[in-house]
Amino acid sequence: MPQIFHHSTNALAKITIYGAIFVAVAALWATVELNRSSWNTGQWLERQQPVQFSHKHHTGDDGIDCRYCHTSVETSASAGLPPTTTCMNCHKQIWADSPYLEPVRASLRNNKPIEWFRVHDLPDYAYFNHSIHVNKGVGCSTCHGRVDEMPIAYQSSSLQMEWCLECHRHPEKFVRDKEKVFDMNWRPENKSATDIAYGKSLLAKYKIQGKEILTSCSTCHR
Ligand code: HEC
Ligand code: HEC
Ligand code: HEC
Ligand code: HEC
Ligand code: HEC
Repeated sequence: MPQIFHHSTNALAKITIYGAIFVAVAALWATVELNRSSWNTGQWLERQQPVQFSHKHHTGDDGIDCRYCHTSVETSASAGLPPTTTCMNCHKQIWADSPYLEPVRASLRNNKPIEWFRVHDLPDYAYFNHSIHVNKGVGCSTCHGRVDEMPIAYQSSSLQMEWCLECHRHPEKFVRDKEKVFDMNWRPENKSATDIAYGKSLLAKYKIQGKEILTSCSTCHR
């Protein structure tokens, strides 16, 4: 019986099928990558602020404590941004005539708060609370990176759900002594067996809840 299809069509069919699978996989990969990219998450992007405020100068070089400006970080959901009067505690005297500080002086004159551009901004359907984390030994630098080395603040973590869950599944890999929460030099992650054993001891000390609660949807979507 004569063949209806030539041998080569077989190969052609294979190429088409594998080709289609390849295109589908490539498209899926591109979607996942795009979703993770900083274009989508805002990670690493530096924002231009109304005042060229530098954490590197104020916390790294001058050693001002985070809580001097982010006063509510230990007691409430939000860390809070400082009012203009906090800046003026120092800048009435230091660099009082600097042109860089004109927007700060204008804010005080006109009694209008400085409109800082939000660097981190979770969607409203996700619940986050600073005080819970800070009081259980999760350090600023674990989530925010080396803020003391940033001339302009940027988001150092993706803030995607996957990122929250990575720690909520294995908090022993990230917790530290409460006294070290504001220490920018402390390691952001426990890696060696000794460090993880230290992390585990803190889970007990601070009575950190188990995986079941920390990964349950209603913990973060309330
Ligand atoms: C002298 C005041 C001051 C001190 C001290 C200070 N900050 Fe800030 N911080 C600010 C101001 C003002 C902003 C808003 C402008 C900006 O984003 O740079 C800010 C913004 C931030 C942001 C980004 C907020 C957002 O929009 O999402 C983070 C994170 C942050 N600070 C962490 C820290 C940490 C960690 C420390 C301690 C190492 C610290 N800050 C110390 C004044 C301060
Ligand atoms: C505890 C004192 C203190 C506070 C509070 C403070 N600063 Fe400063 N600031 C300084 C010092 C000291 C310098 C000089 C920095 C340096 O070169 O190390 C400075 C420098 C600056 C400069 C650079 C000025 C120039 O001409 O280069 C800006 C801008 C600035 N601060 C903005 C702010 C803002 C905005 C706030 C409030 C969120 C603030 N500062 C709060 C102490 C302070
Ligand atoms: C477990 C991770 C985590 C830790 C630890 C953490 N932050 Fe945050 N921070 C976040 C997230 C997430 C946001 C964005 C919150 C939002 O959009 O509702 C944020 C936002 C901020 C902001 C912007 C204002 C606000 O309250 O939303 C500041 C300022 C800030 N953090 C400072 C700090 C300081 C200072 C520390 C250390 C004492 C700290 N953070 C520790 C995750 C963390
Ligand atoms: C580096 C570790 C770490 C990261 C990252 C982290 N968390 Fe947590 N989270 C913890 C620890 C530790 C606790 C304390 C659990 C306890 O109180 O037992 C906690 C507790 C919470 C709680 C309170 C749970 C309860 O019901 O008592 C919420 C809500 C929460 N986290 C939300 C988030 C969200 C949303 C993110 C991401 C934007 C996030 N967390 C990122 C470590 C982390
Ligand atoms: C530790 C906190 C946390 C827990 C637990 C959690 N989520 Fe989320 N979820 C988040 C955060 C934060 C976002 C926002 C992510 C972003 O902006 O990219 C999010 C986003 C989402 C979204 C929007 C789509 C997406 O992926 O960005 C869905 C749907 C969702 N969560 C469902 C769930 C379900 C279902 C569960 C339980 C199996 C769950 N979440 C548990 C923190 C959490």
